[in-house]
Amino acid sequence: MAIFLDTGRIEDVQKFMNMGIIRGVTTNPSILLKSGVTGGPAAIKKRSIEIANLIKPYPLSVEVTTNDPPQMIEQAKEFAGWAENINVKITVHGPQGELDNFEVAHLLEKKFDIRVNMTAIMSAQQCLLGALAGATYVSLFGGRVNNMGYNCVEEIRKARIVLDDQQLKAKIIVGSTREILNVIEWLEAGAHIVTVVPELLQGMIVHPYSKETVQMFLDDARKAEEKLKA
Ligand code: E4P
Repeated sequence: MAIFLDTGRIEDVQKFMNMGIIRGVTTNPSILLKSGVTGGPAAIKKRSIEIANLIKPYPLSVEVTTNDPPQMIEQAKEFAGWAENINVKITVHGPQGELDNFEVAHLLEKKFDIRVNMTAIMSAQQCLLGALAGATYVSLFGGRVNNMGYNCVEEIRKARIVLDDQQLKAKIIVGSTREILNVIEWLEAGAHIVTVVPELLQGMIVHPYSKETVQMFLDDARKAEEKLKA
């Protein structure tokens, strides 16, 4: 079980790497945009290389920015060439349900030896098929599944059972975190990895009662010192 960080912000990656908590980083075009990565491919390259260097040997996921199959393959080769620990996100299908993405993912893994993170997955059945196609990671969007009115815990459980049963190597990453409780709940349900946004990861650490308890220790230590001086 592992926690990845779902961000494109260098400061956040550095902060949680320094704490020794995270075992990888995931991005997508929307996350990079929110993280201030504007300026097209050159900006994506610069930020991706920075993050990959910061976290190596842990993996970084970088998503292709096109749904045209030949261009997806070209971009994937380019992204994977930026650093050894970069894997390439390919969406499970195109915006109109185009199926070429599966062929692309299969080709990248089997012919070009590029690790694929099949992404934008909403169900256990998509996880199974992505794993069968040879993806190294299958990314199930837990928060989005819940937002559609389904319980993503059930999808995670089913996905893990079928992957284990068929001895498929794909690791299930559950992303789209919305609440602090998602993390342990999804790992417990069978996720190999949960990718967490920085705000929630910080929220997992800081607890009001821990604050109060630490303050009590500090106050009592000071009182004990004062008694010694008296
Ligand atoms: C992770 O790999 C996903 O890209 C990410 O968690 C999606 O999150 P969102 O549903 O908040 O966009």
